[in-house]
Amino acid sequence: MPEIRFQGRIAVCEPGRRLRDALLDAGMSPHHPAASVLNCHGLGTCGTCAVAIEGAPDAVDPPTRRERWRLRVPPHRPESGLRLACQCRVKGDLVVTKHGGFWGQRVERSEVVSEPRSEDRLQP
Ligand code: FES
Repeated sequence: MPEIRFQGRIAVCEPGRRLRDALLDAGMSPHHPAASVLNCHGLGTCGTCAVAIEGAPDAVDPPTRRERWRLRVPPHRPESGLRLACQCRVKGDLVVTKHGGFWGQRVERSEVVSEPRSEDRLQP
């Protein structure tokens, strides 16, 4: 069972569970308090569940088309490396970080990853 480390706590979930659902099941939220009600509830359109994820490359699904689209819409930037918790399924152990800002978009410049080349992207 995958373990998710988030805000000093650990949640365990079934493999394949969406990250947002796994966190909510454990009494945690990928949303900042102001966005905990004002969000799309997992449709992948609001962008407020954006988080940074660390783990093995196959610990989460590759980004979906909807996720890639939403993370290109400001205030998000595709080079931030963030993921939408509502769109990715947990496959392995993760360390999850919520950054500042209503959407969790305030990633420090030193943490920004380069944009993957189009040939490196996996298609859904
Ligand atoms: S909850 Fe709205 S994009 Fe994830």
